[in-house]
Amino acid sequence: MNPIVKVEHLKKSFIVGENEVIAVKDISFSINKGEFVSCVGPSGSGKTTLLNLLGTIEHPTKGTIIIDGEDVTKFSPNELAQFRRRKIGFVFQFFNLIDGLTAYENVELPLIFDYQDYSERRKKVNKLFDDFDLNNLKHKFPEELSSGERQRVAIMRSIVNDPLILLCDEATGNLDSQTGQKILELLKELNEKKSTTILMVTHDLSAAKVAKRTIHMRDGIIERETKRN
Ligand SMILES: Nc1ncnc2c1ncn2[C@@H]1O[C@H](COP(=O)(O)OP(=O)(O)OP(=O)(O)O)[C@@H](O)[C@H]1O
Ligand SMILES: [Mg+2]
Repeated sequence: MNPIVKVEHLKKSFIVGENEVIAVKDISFSINKGEFVSCVGPSGSGKTTLLNLLGTIEHPTKGTIIIDGEDVTKFSPNELAQFRRRKIGFVFQFFNLIDGLTAYENVELPLIFDYQDYSERRKKVNKLFDDFDLNNLKHKFPEELSSGERQRVAIMRSIVNDPLILLCDEATGNLDSQTGQKILELLKELNEKKSTTILMVTHDLSAAKVAKRTIHMRDGIIERETKRN
């Protein structure tokens, strides 16, 4: 099976003053279509940097990133922007919803950025609210939603474009444990029912266990991997 994501000898360093801070030292791994992979490791081990590299938000210092058969490190800024809009979904710790827009409008936004027409957008957004059984939230603003509801809306926004891969960075980090558990179950369901490919970064070892495979990072490398059935 062809992997959706394949990275080889990935390195990312930042120049801070006169020093080189190596966030990702040397990482090679791949993710197959439909896999749910979690990524754990101590603070500063490079998890967010790795996610941002795969999401094409950061450009690697060295190495290759093949996503869906294409070397994204060779893309121009315009190609990258389009690639990101169409193929990558992001879910963050702090939801990053836009306050002045309703839940419906927040979910619709990626489709507007992708120049999709009104009827197409309406069809996709309405279907998602139906699938998630959240029609009651459509016309509410983020401040009127609970934190769990906000994260559900953020997840809808991240998948409305049917991304190749969903990248989650501490998606449950700002939620109480019960709400966090529900979000984990939602991600698991997306993976099992819609075959969404997911890479989920988390501090929480028990959260990591919803995935069948976990990569353990330390000091910018993958120290080991665990698999479960
Ligand atoms: N933009 C940046 N400029 C300078 N250094 C950075 C930058 N981004 C990350 N780093 C450094 O790279 C290392 C890895 O950071 P990263 O955010 O990837 O870790 P992390 O595993 O996500 O940590 P946490 O669990 O705290 O979120 C850290 O030492 C961090 O200070
Ligand atoms: Mg991080």
